[in-house]
Amino acid sequence: MQRNTAIAVALGWMLASAAQPVGFAAQDAGLGAPQLQARVESLLARMTLEDKVGQLNQLSVDSLTGPERKVDNGDELIRSGRVGSIINAVTARETNAYQRKAVEGSSLHIPILFGLDVIHGFRTLFPIPLGLSASWDPALVEQTARFAAEEASGQGVRWTFSPMVDMARDPRWGRIAEGAGEDPYLGSAFARAYVRGYQGERLDDPTSVVACAKHFVGYGAAEGGRDYNTTEISERTLRDVYLPPFHAAVDAGAGTVMSAFNAIDGVPASANPFTLTQVLRREWGFLGFVDSDWTAVRELMLHGIADDERTAALRSFSAGVDMDMQTGIFLRNIPELVRSGQVPQGRLDDAVRAILRVKFALGLFDRPYVGESRAPGTAAGRGEALARRAAEESFVLLENRKVRDAPLLPLSASPGRRVALIGPLADSAGDMLGCWSGQAQARDMVTLRSALAERAARERLRLTFAMGTDVAGASDSGFARAIEDARKADVVVLALGESGRSTGEASSRSDLGLPGCQERLLEAVVATGKPVVLIVFSGRPLAIAWASEHVPAILMAWFPGMQAGPALVRTLFGESQPSGRLTVSVPRSVGQVPVYYNHLNTGRPRVDPIGLGADKSDPYFVTGYIDQTSEPLYPFGHGLTYTSFSYSQVRVNPERVSARVIGEGGSSLTVEADVRNTGNREGTETAQLYIRLRGTSVARPVRELKGFERVHLAPGESRHLEFKLGREELAFWNAGMSFAVEPASLYVWVAPDCSTGTPARAEILP
Ligand code: BGC
Repeated sequence: MQRNTAIAVALGWMLASAAQPVGFAAQDAGLGAPQLQARVESLLARMTLEDKVGQLNQLSVDSLTGPERKVDNGDELIRSGRVGSIINAVTARETNAYQRKAVEGSSLHIPILFGLDVIHGFRTLFPIPLGLSASWDPALVEQTARFAAEEASGQGVRWTFSPMVDMARDPRWGRIAEGAGEDPYLGSAFARAYVRGYQGERLDDPTSVVACAKHFVGYGAAEGGRDYNTTEISERTLRDVYLPPFHAAVDAGAGTVMSAFNAIDGVPASANPFTLTQVLRREWGFLGFVDSDWTAVRELMLHGIADDERTAALRSFSAGVDMDMQTGIFLRNIPELVRSGQVPQGRLDDAVRAILRVKFALGLFDRPYVGESRAPGTAAGRGEALARRAAEESFVLLENRKVRDAPLLPLSASPGRRVALIGPLADSAGDMLGCWSGQAQARDMVTLRSALAERAARERLRLTFAMGTDVAGASDSGFARAIEDARKADVVVLALGESGRSTGEASSRSDLGLPGCQERLLEAVVATGKPVVLIVFSGRPLAIAWASEHVPAILMAWFPGMQAGPALVRTLFGESQPSGRLTVSVPRSVGQVPVYYNHLNTGRPRVDPIGLGADKSDPYFVTGYIDQTSEPLYPFGHGLTYTSFSYSQVRVNPERVSARVIGEGGSSLTVEADVRNTGNREGTETAQLYIRLRGTSVARPVRELKGFERVHLAPGESRHLEFKLGREELAFWNAGMSFAVEPASLYVWVAPDCSTGTPARAEILP
């Protein structure tokens, strides 16, 4: 009876508050909206210490995504208001069942926020994020994120642990697959796109999910590329390279941030007051909450900055982590830490406020449940077209040399043509999922083999298929059959690469070659003398130096998701033009790593894009290796199409401008260029704007991306492009650690990649 009265009172309160819409728009820092604050404060005033700490606790309920056993008293914890969030509940039935326990069973009826790793799709699967980034098309990514949000929210999942906006300069690190590559400017553009897509116009739209920018921060700088490893990042590099995409996500309204596993200069990121409080809250004004990564709070003991749980909780919570994922350490220790005064009451209230703000903003108090009629098991039909387009835009054509008189790709589909499809990834649906494939099912993935077989039947091509070898196995017993097929064919399509599971978390590699005996298979097939199209499936750039010299056509396909096969077949036969560009440098060998384009110059450069060091006649005392060039195999931004483009008239206006005027945000430079399709097919070019600053108080990178635009051009068509360079593009963290524009010589390229083009010049005066 008493319980029912309590529910009725609470429901009355909820309905009364529901009468005043929260009016939250994700993009306008709406977490600070006054009506929302009022609801938060009114609830906070009724919470006990234990109720408050309960909100800081996050539990995993089903499949586990980390090294931890399942909690067995989950229900009891939920009913007693000791669970603020649940991760890994994936169906509407499950989320509703837990929600009922919280909303109807607990005394304050605070709804649970359900979180999940919806990384590149929920049920409908898009390419892995690294592949999506190769599209250089944030608008496309926004659409894929929105689609994923709609599917996830339909099951009650209103929080995704995405986007991963970690910069990655080391392809040994398996999680490079989950991000947007090595460039902070491009990474920031994608960070904004993901947040906009997930959070939509309004967070309280039931189809929106709150985004989580992760892993804050520096996780991608893991030493040796070994996952979870410690990092050495100077404050300037942190601010110049690793923080900007997080800042962009926060500015776009991201409601949550996840603290990382790594230590930065000895201070673990999940107990780092500088990054979590100084930068995130004080400098950026973040109003959402910080969730720790999986068991990261307890791992502080292993890092060595705490020798018991209590100290781990104290360090992490005081530094700015608001919610603890999976360990229950906050639940067990924060009450006593507050009672003893070691954690100020105000810190606890701020953390709870931040969590409640997000729950109110999502409309969870007003609509805690979801309908159970939309089964999660049906990948929506309309997702197919988007998944196929996303896959097509992600492909990067690395090579397309002439065989006889014409480039090998696109292939012609003349009846009777004999196509030998070879390779362990040609028909492996499971591998097309890549890492973090969520609720997607292998049976929904259309493989290259099945799409090619359909095309072959339609066009009367003669298709054979042989695996040749396994992805990682040592057996070459399938070579003979594969070579036989190749000999009889007019063209060979070779599908090689990594397994989908060899990228992502805890999947670092020390070797960047093709695994198993695939390299030998490749060499044997090429030795038949037949034209070979190599399709590389992988979650990281692979060091394919031999292939780049000996294989006429190479297409980087990443892990393309559910429409892998149709997208590839359309690309091979030219219905779709490859338009992707690399967002990471591809090394020649693992010994070159780290190799990234936006590095600093040395005092002894071997080559310099603006000709510095050319006066040094001695070729010996220069940076690099004695056994190999230090240039990557393929540079950042590289990607061919089925046509060709030229650039002209690159100029900067005005050519002299004052640093002070730009620094005050009062003015910007305009960069103009003309780009022309010089081939005889239509195609999409991604024009890339790079700058270099010289004469500044700290050394600046040899090139930095500061603008880009995808342009679709018919044969012979030209387009006039205009870019703006203002404070955001020209300022940097200077010797005094201020973000400022300094007098400098400015070099500007508008070019097809980071390694070509002739710069225009301007002077930034005092
Ligand atoms: C990963 C996160 C992920 C979390 C929850 C962790 O192991 O590092 O990226 O969001 O698990 O599944």
